[in-house]
Amino acid sequence: MGSINNIVIAGAGTMGISLVQIFAKYDYKVTLYNRATPSLEKAKKQIVFSQENLVSTGMATEEESKRVVKKIKYTTDKNVFKDCDFVVETIVEDMDVKHTFWNEISSIAKEDAVLTSNTSGLSITELAKAVKKPERFAGMHFWNPPHLVPLVEIIKGKKTTDETADIIYKLAEDIDKKPVVLQKEINGFIGNRLQFAVLREAVNLVEAGVASAEDVDKAVKYGIGFRYACIGPFETTDLGGLNTFNNIAKYLLPQLSNAESMPILEKKVEKGQLGVKSGQGFYDYKNGKDKEAIDSRDEKFIKLYKTFYQKG
Ligand SMILES: NC(=O)c1ccc[n+]([C@@H]2O[C@H](COP(=O)([O-])OP(=O)(O)OC[C@H]3O[C@@H](n4cnc5c(N)ncnc54)[C@H](O)[C@@H]3O)[C@@H](O)[C@H]2O)c1
Repeated sequence: MGSINNIVIAGAGTMGISLVQIFAKYDYKVTLYNRATPSLEKAKKQIVFSQENLVSTGMATEEESKRVVKKIKYTTDKNVFKDCDFVVETIVEDMDVKHTFWNEISSIAKEDAVLTSNTSGLSITELAKAVKKPERFAGMHFWNPPHLVPLVEIIKGKKTTDETADIIYKLAEDIDKKPVVLQKEINGFIGNRLQFAVLREAVNLVEAGVASAEDVDKAVKYGIGFRYACIGPFETTDLGGLNTFNNIAKYLLPQLSNAESMPILEKKVEKGQLGVKSGQGFYDYKNGKDKEAIDSRDEKFIKLYKTFYQKG
């Protein structure tokens, strides 16, 4: 496999729009591919808007931002895959749609191009069944918003070679991400397994009447979440003392939730209460409170990013 220079991001949605800006920032030749032009037109506008935002929050200089905008190419032409070195597929989360995409694209791409999917949790081995030369295919899972969240999970399918995983790892490091490699496949990878273990317990605490959603959120933000932005669970345990954590585990683990569904969540979804996107979730987002919530999150994420990760 040759060196990586020419990258195609396939899918001009939430993730694709952000990912293409990251690779342009780090001077890769990068193209945003989508099957239809209207999404690309929308993406172009959103990229300009997003860059303006980065400049106004001090995440990029005006000069850097102009260079990024200029560098990104847009296309609906599948020939773009012919001479690219690396693909990040970030189209809709649907096995059949992704199979159709990979079946075609992996035959167009050079045999030594590295091919990745940003799937949130579909099986890489299953996806790879549609890929020509599946040894050069792996999961490359970014976290939203990918220009701020440092983690990239690299997931090897049964046929993915170590060489492929190494190339993805180095590329992720080159764009200043913090990659981790899953040596074998598991649903939800690492991040979503941990996220859903916490969410299951959080929902259980609310359903059991132990605390309100607001207080559970406070306990996370000002307790475990405060720590977890800086140290992981194993570091936390080392610092707290393994004997103490072991004693707590003995009586607490049997009492933790092992629920296989989350009734509160199901009821809210049935009522159309989908969160920020519908104006109501666990909290009320009507009358401009949706924008406030997003702005407040972004402002905090940017502060965190600047404190721990921004170079220079
Ligand atoms: N949104 C997130 O928080 C997030 C986080 C991590 C990973 N992901 C994963 O990233 C992928 C994309 O998610 P998203 O939220 O950006 O989705 P999205 O719905 O915002 O965007 C998907 C884009 O892909 C395009 N598309 C669909 N089929 C296509 C095809 N056959 N060829 C080319 N383009 C096609 C659509 O037109 C759309 O522009 C999914 O696999 C998702 O699970 C999403």
